[in-house]
Amino acid sequence: MQDIILLTGAGKGIGRAIALDFSSKAQNNISFNPVLVLCSRTYSEIATLAEECAELGTKVLPIEADIAKPDDIDRLVRQTLEEFGTIDCLINNAGVGRFKSLTELTEEDFDYTMSVNMKGTFFLTQKVFPIMEKKRSGHIFFITSIAAETAFKNSSVYSMSKFGQKGLAETIRLYGRECNVKITNVMTGAVYTPMWGDAGNEFKNVMMMPEDIAGPIVDAYLQPPRTSVEEIVLRPVGGDINS
Ligand SMILES: NC(=O)c1ccc[n+]([C@@H]2O[C@H](COP(=O)([O-])OP(=O)(O)OC[C@H]3O[C@@H](n4cnc5c(N)ncnc54)[C@H](OP(=O)(O)O)[C@@H]3O)[C@@H](O)[C@H]2O)c1
Repeated sequence: MQDIILLTGAGKGIGRAIALDFSSKAQNNISFNPVLVLCSRTYSEIATLAEECAELGTKVLPIEADIAKPDDIDRLVRQTLEEFGTIDCLINNAGVGRFKSLTELTEEDFDYTMSVNMKGTFFLTQKVFPIMEKKRSGHIFFITSIAAETAFKNSSVYSMSKFGQKGLAETIRLYGRECNVKITNVMTGAVYTPMWGDAGNEFKNVMMMPEDIAGPIVDAYLQPPRTSVEEIVLRPVGGDINS
């Protein structure tokens, strides 16, 4: 049996590490046969990653799509269903952040962040959930953040979007419990990824690495059908770096 896994934001950082972790764990587990549908806006990155996963023996389909655009969401889901017939796992990982003080943030920063983190995550989930509801099985992950429940001064808009994603995860879980669909909210602290830009290098020694996040996510997916990992909280051992 194949597991059709749709992963957004797969081209870099945490998403890329999740795809590689699925592929490498499948190598050591003959009963686990993941098929990865990799989505991001930069085709070259997901195409390269697709080659790496294929080398590990995983079937992969890279699809360029911007989850902030409803038409792209429709195409992403349609193409996945045409190719593989179902979706077993959705990993809502694509996300953006604009980190500035309260008065520096612009309307464009607000709209951009909300269009990806809130609107994109909501409408993709809304499209995929009924597929799982109908077959009474599936798993949806929301890669939110520690900023979904902890405030940081330069994260007002980002934090709003992540609190919102957490609200969505908790609401969808109420539906999921009625139809055997698992919902996992992944709240992670600072991870060394391109999201941090140049600031990442300054803090690298007190951050987690993308593979530290990917491992527990794939392990949560591989739990027995009776068990749902509802929340995963991961922090650098020294705590939040900008608290
Ligand atoms: N890094 C951290 O410290 C940290 C901490 C807590 C939570 N998180 C969350 O973890 C998730 C992944 O973050 P990351 O650090 O790995 O970020 P990243 O390195 O910037 O990677 C983000 C990925 O999402 C894709 N993406 C962005 N906007 C998209 C859109 N509209 N449609 C489709 N794909 C899109 C990006 O590719 P394109 O730009 O090519 O589309 C990229 O592949 C995010 O939701 C983030 O909020 C990160």
